[in-house]
Amino acid sequence: MQRGDKAEALARLREEARMAGRHETGFAFGEGSPEARLMIVGEAPGRREAELGKPFVGASGKLLDRLLEAARIDRDEVWITNVVKWRPTREEGGRVNRAPRAAEVAADSAWLERELEVIRPRVVLCLGIRAASSLIHPDFKMNAERGKWFPGPLGSRAMASFHPAYVLRQQGADGEQLIDLMQQDFREIGKAIER
Ligand code: URA
Repeated sequence: MQRGDKAEALARLREEARMAGRHETGFAFGEGSPEARLMIVGEAPGRREAELGKPFVGASGKLLDRLLEAARIDRDEVWITNVVKWRPTREEGGRVNRAPRAAEVAADSAWLERELEVIRPRVVLCLGIRAASSLIHPDFKMNAERGKWFPGPLGSRAMASFHPAYVLRQQGADGEQLIDLMQQDFREIGKAIER
């Protein structure tokens, strides 16, 4: 597929997904370069993502930007998306984020598969257990298996790292240690897409 064709296919897919979905909670589709060698897959949009309709633009996105920059990976050359495209929320004196349900992951996996088919990334980086268990293997164990290479979708190579929101919830030295591990993973990803 040519560059323009890919961009058009992704725009069509975005619109199709938006129209098909759970409108009331807010929607963020994937975004980035249609020619990306690297696809980064998170869990689901949060409040800021749903407001702006873009993935990883809140606090987790800031940490992601920091990690990409340290690994010299240009965010504009990556396709960034989520397993779930609608913000999962619950009522608790207002709408707050919650983890996506298995049924939501299953329902939205069709959109992720179609994004993968258009982009055909060489490398897939899963952030968090939901992306890793959807795209690498269902029993993925983050502590034991992060930072390792696995066969990914459509002939890609896949790796998983911690979810930025999880890392941001850890205080002090624990949080710093997790960020160091994520930095190692991102460096490895940077090398793989240069090759
Ligand atoms: N923002 C996203 O877009 N996805 C996540 O998984 C977390 C924050």
